[in-house]
Amino acid sequence: MKNINPSTTQAWKALEQHVTDAKKWHLRKLFTDDAERFKRFSIEWNGWLFDFSKNIITDTTLSLLEQLFEEVGWKDAISAQFGGELINRTEKRAVFHTALRNHWGNRPSVTGGKDVRADVRAVLERMKIFSEEVRSGKWKGFTDKPITDVVNIGIGGSDLGPLMVTEALKAYGHERLRFHFVSNVDGAHIWETTKKLKAETTLFIIASKTFTTQETMANALTARQWFYSQGGTPADVAKHFVAVSTNAKKVAEFGIDTANMFEFWDWVGGRYSVWSAIGLPVMLSIGYEGFMEFLHGAWLMDEHLLQAPFRQNIPALMAAIGIWYVNFLGAETEAILPYDQYLHRFPAYFQQGNMESNGKSIDRNGQRVTYHTGPIIWGEPGTNGQHAFYQLIHQGTRLIPCDFIAGIQPVAPFPDHHLKLLSNFFAQTEALMKGKTREEALEELMKDGMPKEEAEPLTPYKVFEGNKPTTSILYPKLTPRTLGSLIAVYEHKIFLQGVVWNIYSYDQWGVELGKQLASKILPELEMGEITQPHDGSTLGLINFYLANRES
Ligand code: F6P
Repeated sequence: MKNINPSTTQAWKALEQHVTDAKKWHLRKLFTDDAERFKRFSIEWNGWLFDFSKNIITDTTLSLLEQLFEEVGWKDAISAQFGGELINRTEKRAVFHTALRNHWGNRPSVTGGKDVRADVRAVLERMKIFSEEVRSGKWKGFTDKPITDVVNIGIGGSDLGPLMVTEALKAYGHERLRFHFVSNVDGAHIWETTKKLKAETTLFIIASKTFTTQETMANALTARQWFYSQGGTPADVAKHFVAVSTNAKKVAEFGIDTANMFEFWDWVGGRYSVWSAIGLPVMLSIGYEGFMEFLHGAWLMDEHLLQAPFRQNIPALMAAIGIWYVNFLGAETEAILPYDQYLHRFPAYFQQGNMESNGKSIDRNGQRVTYHTGPIIWGEPGTNGQHAFYQLIHQGTRLIPCDFIAGIQPVAPFPDHHLKLLSNFFAQTEALMKGKTREEALEELMKDGMPKEEAEPLTPYKVFEGNKPTTSILYPKLTPRTLGSLIAVYEHKIFLQGVVWNIYSYDQWGVELGKQLASKILPELEMGEITQPHDGSTLGLINFYLANRES
């Protein structure tokens, strides 16, 4: 992979010039000046529509962004990733989640001199057998009853992926099985979850890549205690606890038979692991065929990334336009707004995906970057967001590029709801783009019968500046396959942005310091005695807690 400070490229400098023009544009005018704008800036793909035309871009913007991508060697970077090279240098690992979905075509999946396709298939086969047994009721608990409740215990990538996808594909889920996800070390999470369950019909999946994560291990131990308190015995553990991990030794130490462990590999990053055995809850819910469809959707997007030229390449355009906003137009955040209730955890999922990947400030030369990297990612499903935070997007002072996402066909019944939902989606992107001028606002007020002298002072509050950029994504219908493609498009967007920003997108050292300090503070709380120096505030907090915890 090339190792270039993007701000030293010709294209970056040209974009810095270009943005002085762009700051004078208004999307409303870009549309009136160009009747073909929608056609030129939207892409149809497999029945999907990606509409980039409501972004503050012109052909020149995209040409310069393409030049930037060329100068940093985006195609070489893709080849390096798909070629299984150790591109995660700080952890000396390949980044090979794409190998987990490479089951069609004949592209090999070689890393470290080995084609891993057979290993991937072998684990898939074991997941298939296990999930079919649980789904059919053949897998029995200690009182010989089938499993009714599956509790996934994991955190971060070992939670958000299976949780988001299981929720998103709930409509395709197994009738008998209910899914629960415990992640927080706050005892309330496991307590509130288990108190509704019966041990004899509950299956726990302990999902942890490292099998050392404090939260997951604490919840797993409490789950096992609970299991014993509800009549289970150590001999019954094998029927009720399985593990998903890369660490067989730790799994065995915990007391789970490694015959009940589903393996994955260190070349699968936590936040990219839903395609691996970490997706076991998904397979239990939608079945093996459904899971393969999910993988297939992602594979289709991988092929698109590999083959499409820049101007047709959906992840590349999403990445490039995002960079344009972050580095040239000064956006600090990006909103992901699914108009699909099933995708209600999608923004949270990509909050981790994006912010843990590109929340970095040291470049691949070990130097501090001189430009901004990953934006803050947030969002909620529409239309709920409209009644909460859209006010700020429409009339606040910040530039917030938004992704609007929806299915053409609904999954749920009640088609009239879907029309209302979509009418809101379309109306919001139109309103954000066009805005409402002072003249329009005044005319509207006067049309409603307000006298001019009363209407005029009110007008400024009724003005919408518009020129608020949005990308619209319409997929045919939310299915395992479309969801696979949708996730993959965002994964590749994050990867390509990391390539341009010249950062390591696949490590997460930033989560370590807090963990280290917590492990030192825990004994102090346990013993009720401070044994190490702390700053004044932390000392004050701990002392206040220790003095008041009994009261
Ligand atoms: O938050 C840091 C992190 O390492 C994530 O990247 C990961 O998804 C999560 O913790 C859980 O880690 P593990 O699967 O090893 O328990």
